[in-house]
Amino acid sequence: MTGGTETRWWRSGVGYEIYVRSFADSDGDGVGDLDGVTAHLDHLAWLGVQAVWLTPFYPTPDADHGYDVMDYCAVDPRFGDLDAFDRLVAEAHRLGLRVLVDVVPNHTSDRHPWFVSARGDRSSPTRDHYLWRDPAADGGPPNNWRSYFGGPAWTFDEATGQYYCHLFLPEQPDLNWRNPEVVAEFDRILQFWCGRGVDGFRIDVAHGLVKDATFRSNPQCRPVPPGATPREAFACFEHRYDIDQDDTTTLFDHWREVVAPFGAVLLGEVGIYRPERFARYVAGSGLQVAFALEIGWMPWDPPALLDVITGLASSAGAGVAWEVSNHDQPRAVTRFGGGAVGLRRTLALTTLLIALDGFPFLYQGEELGLDDGSVLEGAHADPVAVRNPDAPGDGRDGARTSMPWTAGPGNGFTTAAQAWLAAEERGAGDTVSAQVLDPDSPLHRYRALVGLRARFAELWSEPASVHRTGDVSLAVRRGPLLVLANLGDTVEVHELPPGTWWEVFDSATCPVDSSPHAATATIAVAAERTVVLVEQR
Ligand code: BGC
Ligand code: MG
Repeated sequence: MTGGTETRWWRSGVGYEIYVRSFADSDGDGVGDLDGVTAHLDHLAWLGVQAVWLTPFYPTPDADHGYDVMDYCAVDPRFGDLDAFDRLVAEAHRLGLRVLVDVVPNHTSDRHPWFVSARGDRSSPTRDHYLWRDPAADGGPPNNWRSYFGGPAWTFDEATGQYYCHLFLPEQPDLNWRNPEVVAEFDRILQFWCGRGVDGFRIDVAHGLVKDATFRSNPQCRPVPPGATPREAFACFEHRYDIDQDDTTTLFDHWREVVAPFGAVLLGEVGIYRPERFARYVAGSGLQVAFALEIGWMPWDPPALLDVITGLASSAGAGVAWEVSNHDQPRAVTRFGGGAVGLRRTLALTTLLIALDGFPFLYQGEELGLDDGSVLEGAHADPVAVRNPDAPGDGRDGARTSMPWTAGPGNGFTTAAQAWLAAEERGAGDTVSAQVLDPDSPLHRYRALVGLRARFAELWSEPASVHRTGDVSLAVRRGPLLVLANLGDTVEVHELPPGTWWEVFDSATCPVDSSPHAATATIAVAAERTVVLVEQR
């Protein structure tokens, strides 16, 4: 799977995010683990996805559920060990699945040996691996930067009289990417995992690594309203100096050289919502592709969704990793109205995304049409929820409850009395084992949808021409394929180009298209529905 040449394999398939600690628990401790993933890779091969992204499984004190790393080249014993990792990669490759691992370069854990040494000792050899500043004249933080997770992005270190920067929790000190030893250490980390056979990296907070060299305050657009969630507070500033600095992309040019001998792909998480800024990350010789996060935060607002999609498609095209859900956001089914309504809308949107250039991703459980899970009273674990009790809206736990494999206690995820994130049991109809047997299930519909890219290579290989056919509708033409998305709440009649068109997928019905019906001259696309047509030649 690896080799010296870059094949751009990701353009043809669909990726799948595995939130490792909630996917499958092999040893009954209530925490998903690498052997659990390995045991269920056959489900993903059957679903037809091409690659899996594994969320962090490195040693961690879990202040941010693994996104606070103590050792970048090891496996936390709760998740397994390096042998378990090697078995996972071998089994994935045997099944034809690529493996992407998460690399977390913006910050380490405060328990990483570098920070343990740096904190409390100005002369520590790793002091400059982090971002330290003197207090402002009034003794407060050195500037007005905010943490994504609430409060200032600075914490005071009593022992040395300086503040350190953290765009996330105080337990996640930000690294100093202007320090060459930091750069060299991450080269080594990338090479370590490439050497173990990974096919690429998902890069956490790729837009955040480099900060303004003189730490200027950000312009503030409006006062932070009382009771604002951390996200709302963050949005009250223009993030001119803390994130998205011009030289961030230069760093990824270097990373690309580091991974090139292994043929690995660099997939960044780029939380930048201006398409022209987002596009810079995938325009050059750095990242090949980047997650666009905006859709995953949006409610059901068809004109706005289509604005975002067309903006990204025209500016960043094949460089976009499309997703509607991930482990940081409420699931799309929930955001879009819940239940059958939310699922219908999610599938209409996802069918459209799969027809665009780029690398579409599903988040575990999306193929089952899941709503957010119901976390039990008192069991919330996400620091964003737990540490902001007055602004609970931003909590991420609902999307992180365990994967339902079978009916009954533990849902086949664990044999422990309780999963690490205790939640209400999912009903039988939400489980993999029930949906596999039901050809009308969301699982079968997703499988048919994922399979479209294999069935019709033109769906990714032919140039895409994207036309906004209305406020709430979009048409994508790719060679002999025509994809019509009607996200509105009334039926739309489309003129078809001359020829005979066969409907091969409909986001709202079960995938029995062994005898596709011929459509002629016009086609009525029902509300909140996307259809895929192929021209008979
Ligand atoms: C990850 C989050 C994490 C944050 C800080 C992200 O965007 O996806 O889960 O909390 O980075 O590492
Ligand atoms: Mg376990």
